[in-house]
Amino acid sequence: MTTELPVPSKESAHSLLRPGSRIFVAGHRGLVGSAVARRLADDGHEVLTRGRDLLDLRDAARTETYLKEVRPDAVVLAAAKVGGIMANSTYPVQFLEDNLRIQLSVVAGAHAAGTQRLLFLGSSCIYPRLAPQPIREESLLTGELEPTNEAYALAKIAGIVQTQSYRRQYGASYISAMPTNLYGPGDNFDLETSHVLPALIRRFHEARRDGAPEVTLWGSGSPRREFLHVDDLAAACVTLLEAYDGDEPVNIGCGEDLTIRELAETVREVTGYDGRIVWDTSKPDGTPRKLLDVARLNALGFTPKIPLRDGIARTYAWWLGQLPPGQ
Ligand SMILES: NC(=O)c1ccc[n+]([C@@H]2O[C@H](COP(=O)([O-])OP(=O)(O)OC[C@H]3O[C@@H](n4cnc5c(N)ncnc54)[C@H](OP(=O)(O)O)[C@@H]3O)[C@@H](O)[C@H]2O)c1
Repeated sequence: MTTELPVPSKESAHSLLRPGSRIFVAGHRGLVGSAVARRLADDGHEVLTRGRDLLDLRDAARTETYLKEVRPDAVVLAAAKVGGIMANSTYPVQFLEDNLRIQLSVVAGAHAAGTQRLLFLGSSCIYPRLAPQPIREESLLTGELEPTNEAYALAKIAGIVQTQSYRRQYGASYISAMPTNLYGPGDNFDLETSHVLPALIRRFHEARRDGAPEVTLWGSGSPRREFLHVDDLAAACVTLLEAYDGDEPVNIGCGEDLTIRELAETVREVTGYDGRIVWDTSKPDGTPRKLLDVARLNALGFTPKIPLRDGIARTYAWWLGQLPPGQ
């Protein structure tokens, strides 16, 4: 996992994704897949999609048949079984097996269909629990995983090794990326299963609506985390598809973190809630810091465009548009 491969310059590698390519986005209804599909369509590519109702990507034979029918020039694999700590620890079998099966179907199916280019999405949460910060790509597989999502992480690591193996054995231009925490339109606002940012938006929105004097949040607020708007993630994916053809995964983040306390204050302001925030320090904080090293991505010419506050405001506006009147 430590071999450093040269990163081709953006100019020399543009041919990796021709204009007007036909690209299958697996998981196009999800947070990531929907943003990637929007971006590719805006860039003039033909986006191919197939909902889970018509094609369960765990079914390798049907996935291969579909991919051989449509013969995409490229595939973005953004379909996965995804969830928070609770879901991961309750359903480790599904997190392991569904993800392994989706990856086996889609990557092997794409190869069988003659697809030259594939982007597999890993995640920053599959790095070792105690990886040095900011986390470099070389940290993968150098230490113990976070026990709460071990099954998910192992499946995702297998996906990365799978894309690397197709490169080594067949010379396929298959690559993988490691996004940081993402947010944006299409996010999950269910308090049982959501990530921290949509959960904060919902908690403050409801507190304002109900006139609650205070909102209690878990922990001390001191852990530092990084957040990237999903439209910036989609732009980074396009940069990688156009310009990167290396063996190692590439981190996708903004390169900056903030405390959960600062995040909560920002969300409170954006939602217009003027009550108090109370920190319940009897609850655990989790890892003190999680930030990706994005030097490799920056060397390809990518920088994110959406400041966190604007991104949160846009996400809040999107979610308000989804709510029934009066909510
Ligand atoms: N969200 C983040 O903060 C984040 C951060 C880092 C990395 N990532 C990575 O990005 C990828 C996508 O995550 P996401 O947040 O976009 O997840 P998501 O919103 O849950 O979307 C996942 C998509 O996969 C589809 N899918 C799941 N199982 C399927 C199956 N058996 N057959 C067909 N489709 C299936 C889902 O279809 P349905 O719509 O039918 O359920 C959904 O469209 C994952 O690999 C994740 O690890 C996400």
